[in-house]
Amino acid sequence: CGIVGYVGPRAVRSVIVDGLRKLEYRGYDSAGIATLDSGVLRTVKSVGRLSNLEEKLADGEAGGHIGIGHTRWATHGRPSDENAHPHQDCSGRFAIVHNGIIENYLSLREELLARGHQFKSETDTEVVAHLIEELYKGDLFQTMLDVAKRLRGAYALVVLAKDHPDTLVAVRRSSPIIVGLGDGENFVASDIPAILSYTRDVYVLEDGELAVVRADGVSIHTFDGEPVAGKKVLHVTWDAVAAERGGYPHFMLKEIYEQPRAIRDTLTGRIADDLSRVTLPELSWSDDFVQSMDRVHIVACGTSWHAGLVGKAVMEKLTRIPVDVEIASEYRYRDPIETAGTLVIVISQSGETLDTLAALRDAKARGRHVLAITNVVGSSVAREADDVIITWAGPEIAVASTKAYTTQLVVLYLLAVYLGQRRGTLEDGTAKQILAALAELPMAAEQVLDTAPQVERFAREWADARDTFFIGRGIDYAMALEGALKLKEISYIHAEAYAAGELKHGTLALITEGVPVIALATQTDLYEKTLSNIKEVKARDAFVLGVTFAGDEEMRHSVDEVLYVPRTLPVLAPVITVIPLQLLAYYAAVARGNDVDKPRNLAKSVTVE
Ligand code: G6P
Repeated sequence: CGIVGYVGPRAVRSVIVDGLRKLEYRGYDSAGIATLDSGVLRTVKSVGRLSNLEEKLADGEAGGHIGIGHTRWATHGRPSDENAHPHQDCSGRFAIVHNGIIENYLSLREELLARGHQFKSETDTEVVAHLIEELYKGDLFQTMLDVAKRLRGAYALVVLAKDHPDTLVAVRRSSPIIVGLGDGENFVASDIPAILSYTRDVYVLEDGELAVVRADGVSIHTFDGEPVAGKKVLHVTWDAVAAERGGYPHFMLKEIYEQPRAIRDTLTGRIADDLSRVTLPELSWSDDFVQSMDRVHIVACGTSWHAGLVGKAVMEKLTRIPVDVEIASEYRYRDPIETAGTLVIVISQSGETLDTLAALRDAKARGRHVLAITNVVGSSVAREADDVIITWAGPEIAVASTKAYTTQLVVLYLLAVYLGQRRGTLEDGTAKQILAALAELPMAAEQVLDTAPQVERFAREWADARDTFFIGRGIDYAMALEGALKLKEISYIHAEAYAAGELKHGTLALITEGVPVIALATQTDLYEKTLSNIKEVKARDAFVLGVTFAGDEEMRHSVDEVLYVPRTLPVLAPVITVIPLQLLAYYAAVARGNDVDKPRNLAKSVTVE
């Protein structure tokens, strides 16, 4: 979900609607705004897109100079006008917006019902508005400290109160919130892009901090009410245009085309000029630490988890350390077998995925050393991990992750070479070969984008397919998983990824005449085996699109069509082969008339369990 708040001389309505539009990608099943104008606190909300809310806001409504707004991605309670934020108490003196989940909302609701409160929505958030009303004795700041003590779970809250027409109070526990610092005006938001057109100076609230925001000043306190001394102002250097579409019809397409640049940026400064070694100054790891590492657990969700699967293959090959890759929501509730030398790597493009963050915290609590790979500087994951390697993909807006994924792969390669060299499991000659190939990836990524017209043609032909299958072996299997996920996410075509050799144990029953199969065959040592599997599906009259390196003539005879990608080392193939798979999903979604950047039921940053 997205939060924006404002206090200052501007017309609050336009600041909030504008900010919400920049945040719509965080959640978009409903939106709402609460403003305080001439002593009247009013809330307007609407299910659906922000434009629905704008239509609902009659002329002159939502006036004044202080207010809060929200775009919602439903958790507790379906998307509806009533369940949209802001929520109010019975007396209508308070309005709040919230991201996250209040875990103890049911017991609080019982308690408040017993005290005569009446609820209008099915949300966990509404209990907070009533709790404020219940605890309020004239001091908003003190009330919010008391409220924070009663709430369990993850939340970012902002409250607007009728009796305090010059003050917003923001509270953070687990869910991100920032305060934008202006001149005679101040802002609150869940994300920086919401306020970037007004200010570049922000405070990032830490867990357990509360901000009192007025037009002429901001003060930050702990949940004990103590002022936080020496809070640092973060000056944001990103370009505002970087967060906009820049001429492309969708953010996703723009982000796919940004990959050569994103890969280059992520490599920059991390490979020695003579290609002899990797430099990662962000890791100040002692020799003892590196040598005693005897296990790696990679923990992530979604596309980041798929990057982890490639990471496992590469790290095991180059470092000979056993690597497990775990889905964060599973890892948290298992009892993982760890040693004192276990390194936990969390991968998260947003750095805010709650499952991943919780896994990080659990691992730290067990005494593990945690390395984060993330795209967002200052994100929760980045701040809480022991070490961080940033992927320099730049802001990714489309829900379906593309450039964040390829840059995660790049970081995993760099890390594998780095560890392999330091541990002595990777020969200098091989390291040099890999680093030389890595340095050429931006160019190869540029070239593979030339396949777009061919991919677009397939996508149009296949747009009506009900089922599709992605097959591959080894690293190609990890690619198949990511290709299938992309297709499902945005085209809504059912897609299944299978280890090519496993097809015959069940899924082959689903392969009938004309069923599209995308077969990945970039792994030299597995090539012949994959080719046999391709023949198995061809024998059932599937329509097979083979994806392989340029120059492979043999493939032509075994499949219906071939998509050639520029040759690189097989181990690096994922960075290149994923690009046509992203384009395939993109064009299929466009052909089906889907909302590419905002697929149904999905959100960019999932800050709930
Ligand atoms: C959401 C996004 C996915 C992403 C996943 C993990 O589901 O829609 O694209 O892969 O979260 O996100 P993270 O930010 O932790 O990489």
